[in-house]
Amino acid sequence: MSNQQNFRPRILLVSVGMYGQKYLAEATRQDVGGDVAGVVDVAENLAEKFPVIAEKNIPVYASLQSFFEKDRADLAVISSPIHLHTAMVLECLKNGAHVLCEKPLCLTQEETLRLASAAKEANRFLALGWQLNYDRAVLALKRDILSGRFGRPLRMRCVHAMRRGRNYYARSGWAGRITVDGVEVLDSPFMNACAHHFQLMTFLLGDTMEKAAALAQVTGELYRGNPDVENYDIAALRFTTATGVPVCYYTAHPLKTKNLGQEGLAEFEHGTLTWGKGKPFLVKTDTGEEINYGMDGNTPLMQKLYDAVQCVKDGAAPLCGAEAGLSHLNAVRMAQALPVGKIDPAHVVWIEEGEDRFPCVTGLEEVFLRSAEKWALPGEIGLSL
Ligand SMILES: NC(=O)c1ccc[n+]([C@@H]2O[C@H](COP(=O)([O-])OP(=O)(O)OC[C@H]3O[C@@H](n4cnc5c(N)ncnc54)[C@H](O)[C@@H]3O)[C@@H](O)[C@H]2O)c1
Repeated sequence: MSNQQNFRPRILLVSVGMYGQKYLAEATRQDVGGDVAGVVDVAENLAEKFPVIAEKNIPVYASLQSFFEKDRADLAVISSPIHLHTAMVLECLKNGAHVLCEKPLCLTQEETLRLASAAKEANRFLALGWQLNYDRAVLALKRDILSGRFGRPLRMRCVHAMRRGRNYYARSGWAGRITVDGVEVLDSPFMNACAHHFQLMTFLLGDTMEKAAALAQVTGELYRGNPDVENYDIAALRFTTATGVPVCYYTAHPLKTKNLGQEGLAEFEHGTLTWGKGKPFLVKTDTGEEINYGMDGNTPLMQKLYDAVQCVKDGAAPLCGAEAGLSHLNAVRMAQALPVGKIDPAHVVWIEEGEDRFPCVTGLEEVFLRSAEKWALPGEIGLSL
């Protein structure tokens, strides 16, 4: 049945919160190649919030168990809070569904490997929602890196920070938290909202199309700019991969600029890669050749959904499996062990915009940009926040 191209997989959307609603929108406005079998979410007034649920007669369930008691799905797309992923992935696999789970899959290496082997045993795929790993420009670039076209990677860096304020943290109980009810969450810009371009760098440095590069060491500076957040919300980090490549990343939420970056640079033996918001992935080689892979925006954000549906039909598995997120996960844990510095409240200015309030650490943008320029942590070049 799965080889028939006219077969339309039944898709279960698990959690339609801030991010999961994008899957609902995509799967109800476009033909994604499959049909929505149901939505699982505990939120009240879902039908009011998403009129399409009634328009398309999509059944809503308060738990996975209540869905699977009545129905079946070929593909479950999980966009629940991180600490619920593991139990939900296992439940979906147990009930015969392939799984596309939003990033990060979970918070430990052991759990990642356990989930990967549960998928293998169930003969189902477990794909992750790191959208850049589905991006056609990124995939073409990685193939060229792996072929040795630019020589050995020497170092990589990226600045990516996004302003987030009161409403972002108020949307749910796990935002900005280290634990929820004793369960680890480790939420931070590095772990969650601004994770993608760090994950991208580890993916580009990975030695196969499925894997990201393992990380050996970290040095870094973490700060809490927003006093209402439990975890850190500013990070300047320099990792070294297991093969000795430095990877620098600068990310934060309490800043005046809505979006700082993404601004990426990677040096190879025989070429330099640049990428960023509104800029293509571009390699200039030392022979003067320019290779333009295109912008990441050329691939739809929801390509992951289309690819997952196609894989269900083909009996294949998306490249972005459980192991794709392991390096980012290890990096999150390595960063989490670093001390969190205090910021003088006099350096935090609160601004109001629309219905929201944002804490902004004075001068953060300049500190990040000057540090990145030197491949440094702020303190190493005499800068402080
Ligand atoms: N790929 C991306 O670019 C991207 C962007 C943002 C978030 N995410 C990821 O998406 C996931 C969800 O993040 P979010 O910001 O949308 O979270 P959120 O807190 O905004 O939404 C979570 C949803 O889960 C529902 N929920 C809570 N408990 C539930 C339960 N027991 N059963 C079913 N549903 C339940 C909530 O009602 C809510 O609708 C996270 O893994 C996050 O990292 C990915």
